[in-house]
Amino acid sequence: MRKPIIAGNWKMYKTVGDSVATALALKPLVANANHCEVVIAPVFTALKSVADRLEGSNIKVSAQDCAPVAEEGAQTGEVAAFMLRDVGASYVIVGHSERRQFYGETDQIIAQKVQAALGAGLQVILCVGESLDQRNRGIEVQVVAGQLRGCLGGLTASDLDRIIVAYEPIWAIGTGIAATPEQAQEMHGLIRQAFAEKISETGAAHLRILYGGSVKPDNIRGLMSGADIDGVLVGGASLDAGSFAKIVNYNE
Ligand code: PGA
Repeated sequence: MRKPIIAGNWKMYKTVGDSVATALALKPLVANANHCEVVIAPVFTALKSVADRLEGSNIKVSAQDCAPVAEEGAQTGEVAAFMLRDVGASYVIVGHSERRQFYGETDQIIAQKVQAALGAGLQVILCVGESLDQRNRGIEVQVVAGQLRGCLGGLTASDLDRIIVAYEPIWAIGTGIAATPEQAQEMHGLIRQAFAEKISETGAAHLRILYGGSVKPDNIRGLMSGADIDGVLVGGASLDAGSFAKIVNYNE
């Protein structure tokens, strides 16, 4: 059984005050959601305040990135994975396409971040996904399989237990054009197959694969009906507590 994860990626939105207010508004709205793990990812500066206020609730906190090096040291501007644990995060998103695109993150850097995060005891939400051009050229499966190999190659079976993959086609992020349930299910099936072939045959069966890209309250049900779709990573529609709660409670 793969318990679904419904995660909200708040990106670079909200002050500490706004983050706490949204988290507190969300808390009662998803208090009965036992069918899934609920996760929110505020900006670094709000992590501790949000995590403190959510203690004892069923909402877990994620960071949106971490340093590629595990130890503290002379790394101006970076935040180490253990520091994220220290403020109450239990997950970290790595390899988001915005990091790859705007900050030049390569699979090699992302692999280091994955190692650092696992070393600190975090669960890792690794983002993969193809561009529109790559999809038009019919190489989307190769692209995603390459990202999996580049970011997860060499991990042990117990490390892989703490890996969650988020399939986020770049053409669907923030565009309002989500993958159809059929497109998403097809890719998720192929990702599971690629994971079995290239990373771990046994791990593939319990690997949770989330879909991300323009998930909204009105398309969540269709997406979650896919046999290989084990949850979602939501950007824009997670910023409002009411909208995100509708996504979490999609089964009602
Ligand atoms: P979106 O973002 O839901 O706003 O498309 C998803 C993401 O980037 O994780």
